[in-house]
Amino acid sequence: MQLDLFENLSPSANDREILAEGATVLRGRALDKAHELIEAIGQITTKAPFRHLITPGGYRMSVAMTNCGQTGWVSDQRGYRYQATDPHTGQAWPAMPECFTQVAIAAAEAAGYRDFHPVACLINRYVPGARLSLHQDKDEGDLSCPIVSVSLGLPAVFQFGGLQRTDTPRKYLLQHGDVAVWGGPSRLCYHGVLPLKDGQHPLLGRQRLNLTFRVAR
Ligand code: SIN
Ligand code: FE2
Repeated sequence: MQLDLFENLSPSANDREILAEGATVLRGRALDKAHELIEAIGQITTKAPFRHLITPGGYRMSVAMTNCGQTGWVSDQRGYRYQATDPHTGQAWPAMPECFTQVAIAAAEAAGYRDFHPVACLINRYVPGARLSLHQDKDEGDLSCPIVSVSLGLPAVFQFGGLQRTDTPRKYLLQHGDVAVWGGPSRLCYHGVLPLKDGQHPLLGRQRLNLTFRVAR
């Protein structure tokens, strides 16, 4: 009786939702590693603190970002790009922790992408109201590998559309521990995050953290 109750409450290892061909949400896939991931994010951000990047158009992004790995995604008046050093410190980005790599590789494999070896992880922090408008991840220089995205903390509404900006996106609630993977025919699908609703998460309080693992040159 009790077992049945828990089975209904916690996502099973096979709980997945197909967003499009090549795009899947693996419900709860990172739940058992959440504490470890959060601890590692704390260590990374002591060396490479979260900051609000400026878009090439001069807007301050509402999502705060940092990176770990061999290279990191940055934006400023000169454009969007990956670079091996943190522009704030001039130092290399902190190394990608082992637990990050393990979660990303296992999730990619579960979504049908073998031999995924991420070299970069963009870490996003959303506070209530923060959002990410519809965009494509296309600065990686290698579009043959998927994007693996791990959600932690407050739930967010993820929009996932088609290959044209004008394709109407569908909405999916991404909760603590969910992992979204998109690649192959979905690799360049437009996606975004609606303004984060206020709330209180038991581990992270009033915020959502998101890790996106990438193969970038
Ligand atoms: C991203 O598009 O890079 C991040 C998506 C998310 O925060 O879920
Ligand atoms: Fe993205």
